[in-house]
Amino acid sequence: MTTAADYAEKIPNNVKLQEDRRLQRALEAWQPNFLSWWDTMGPALPTRDVYLRTAISVDRDGWAVFDHVPMRDYRWGIFLADRDPDRRIAFGQHKGDAAWQQVPGEYRASLQRLIVIQGDTEPASVEQQRNLGATAPSLYDLRNLFQVNVEEGRHLWAMVYLLQAHFGRDGREEAELLLHRHSGSQEAPRILGAFNEETPDWLSFFMFTYFTDRDGKYQLGTLKESAFDPLARTCAFMLKEESHHMFVGLTGAQRVVERTAQLMREHNTDDVIPYGAIPLSVIQKYLNFHFSVSLDLFGGETSTNVGNYFTAGLKGRWAEERRKDDHQLTDTSIMVDALIDGQIGQTEVPALLGLNADLRREYIADCQNGVDRWNATLTSAGLPHRLKLPHVAFNRHVGAFADIRATPEGELLSAAEWEAQKYEWLPSPVDRTYVRSLMQPVYERGKLAAWIAPPRNGINGKPLDYEYVHLA
Ligand SMILES: [Fe+2]
Ligand SMILES: [Fe+2]
Repeated sequence: MTTAADYAEKIPNNVKLQEDRRLQRALEAWQPNFLSWWDTMGPALPTRDVYLRTAISVDRDGWAVFDHVPMRDYRWGIFLADRDPDRRIAFGQHKGDAAWQQVPGEYRASLQRLIVIQGDTEPASVEQQRNLGATAPSLYDLRNLFQVNVEEGRHLWAMVYLLQAHFGRDGREEAELLLHRHSGSQEAPRILGAFNEETPDWLSFFMFTYFTDRDGKYQLGTLKESAFDPLARTCAFMLKEESHHMFVGLTGAQRVVERTAQLMREHNTDDVIPYGAIPLSVIQKYLNFHFSVSLDLFGGETSTNVGNYFTAGLKGRWAEERRKDDHQLTDTSIMVDALIDGQIGQTEVPALLGLNADLRREYIADCQNGVDRWNATLTSAGLPHRLKLPHVAFNRHVGAFADIRATPEGELLSAAEWEAQKYEWLPSPVDRTYVRSLMQPVYERGKLAAWIAPPRNGINGKPLDYEYVHLA
């Protein structure tokens, strides 16, 4: 059964908010703070309206409507996937029990922490992308950026709902702090490193949505398994929205590669700078950077905390229910990356301890699919060049390889060698300045910047020269 969203309400929702006056009041008190955060930290480019997709219900056909809306009037709402009244816990020590509708006291602190960490990433990415509108390569891309931004805003609402509905006064305080921390801030930075990096240009944006939003997908995938049913249902719906963000990254980077490949062919050269495009070598460096910082988001290879979360039923594995094992992992082991006598290697650990490594492995395999797509573009342009994911030990700041330096091929380097060569593999200040110099806005209908190929299709069946955004 599908619960229709109530759009007559101040806060659109499918959680019967009007039946819980106290919660409704708490959320209505938070709403103006959210809006003032959006005004000051959200998209900086003034617009009249944007052709946006809005979630109106969670069933298959009705969950999205498209229309031109002023972004500030976007209907940020609270939507949980439909409840399965028979849902059972799929893993851990409570496996087989009915899923929890309330937070068990003993897991309160841990669940709150998990929700806060997830919640913190949502507004962070909006802040990171705040100034990109000023340099959009087309109205189509501008619209996609804003779509991602409003949905990350909605994901913040999703986490704030859980905090306010289930964690009392602590939850309300955490909801305020989610608006108080800011990406890159000295005094109150966002919780995770990658969310304090800048997203200064559109190549970074595409790599971020491809690699870093995909980390989000995997984290949400583990929370979707949670024994705490409201969290599981929230994350299930967020995952639907998240897939568009990765589509933006996948196709955005693919179109950059396509344009570069086209010019390489046309002029029979690797040097596309004279033609105002981004060299493949620079694209590879951006890929190296965003992949490696995203790997850090998965945490250390071994973690007792994460093992405890699993055993408690708070956080499962990717595709938990499709796995063919006992879902308790009390006597299995897993190989994880490790530094062994100063060398890059692997070591066997109890499976419960190695859950971060398990999730990262799923993530890496998924990342490879996009790289294959980008390489297919090079192949069809008749070029022998290939992009590739760097070695897991490359440019790491978290986990087993945080203290060593390695090339993208996984060869160890001394600190001095790394310093001397790192800009062969990571974007140098010169690379970044060059990419930034290309970032001139193109706001004319149907027109595109010279460094990117057009998309194959418009949005929701609209043509490429549709007015996706009306600037103010
Ligand atoms: Fe999100
Ligand atoms: Fe996202």
